[in-house]
Amino acid sequence: MNFAVVTGVSRGLGQSVATLFLELGIHVVGISRSSNEKLDEIAKQNNVIFRHFSCDLGNSDHIEETIEQISQQIFPHEPTTLYIVNNAAVLEPIDQVMNIKSSDLSKHVRVNTIAPMVITNLFLKKAHEMNISMVGVTVTSGAANRPVYGWSAYCSTKASINMYTQTVALEQDELKTGNKVIAFDPGKMDTAMQERIRESSHETFIEVDIFKEYKKSNLLKDTYAVGGVLVDILRDKGNIENGKIYNVKDYL
Ligand SMILES: NC(=O)c1ccc[n+]([C@@H]2O[C@H](COP(=O)([O-])OP(=O)(O)OC[C@H]3O[C@@H](n4cnc5c(N)ncnc54)[C@H](OP(=O)(O)O)[C@@H]3O)[C@@H](O)[C@H]2O)c1
Repeated sequence: MNFAVVTGVSRGLGQSVATLFLELGIHVVGISRSSNEKLDEIAKQNNVIFRHFSCDLGNSDHIEETIEQISQQIFPHEPTTLYIVNNAAVLEPIDQVMNIKSSDLSKHVRVNTIAPMVITNLFLKKAHEMNISMVGVTVTSGAANRPVYGWSAYCSTKASINMYTQTVALEQDELKTGNKVIAFDPGKMDTAMQERIRESSHETFIEVDIFKEYKKSNLLKDTYAVGGVLVDILRDKGNIENGKIYNVKDYL
């Protein structure tokens, strides 16, 4: 029996990854602020469990409580493998750094950096104590590797996730736990996040016209195709290169 914990399941890539796991007979626990009734239906059709936990990933105390409740539901089943998919993230605040409010920046870092780190740390500890094999991924972005005008917060949090991933993998290898932790760059996908990018003003985000053109020219990837690549990588545990920043471009 295998379980996957997926954050950001209410829409976009998270919904697609959760759907693909359920269709493969893998039980899914989803975390987001809003629920997703479609996933309840897909779970029923495939005779597997889908449980949704409503949690604001900008609130670290709430994350700890939620992970404790999720652990109580998952670990008694003694899963063979536990998949952790840190997919939820925000792009905002989009603006020149001089105009960014400290409170908005702080919320952004809590959702994009602190939450995936806390979730990975807590589940690695539980999996280790219970002798359960864990495969974890955090969804990163090409913005981790290049400065983008207006995206100082997003570029910084995605870069921090890449280094966190490499550090955790180094420790897990040294400790010979067998657990695998990677990052995954999904490329540009047709989601609500891209809609919000196209709504930016030129003053806050100078590449806005280029991103409008991506949509017009049909260059945004489908989340199910991207999710399929990610799920295939995660399920092939023996061949996962620990700490690697995987890129969908190498597959699609
Ligand atoms: N779309 C792209 O082109 C693109 C490109 C590169 C990387 N990525 C990365 O791919 C991942 C998925 O992106 P997407 O495009 O699918 O995004 P999306 O459509 O905006 O969906 C984001 C998901 O994250 C959840 N979320 C956001 N803030 C949250 C919070 N405070 N607490 C709990 N959940 C929260 C949302 O759920 P609720 O609002 O219901 O809470 C939603 O389910 C992200 O890590 C993103 O950075 C996307």
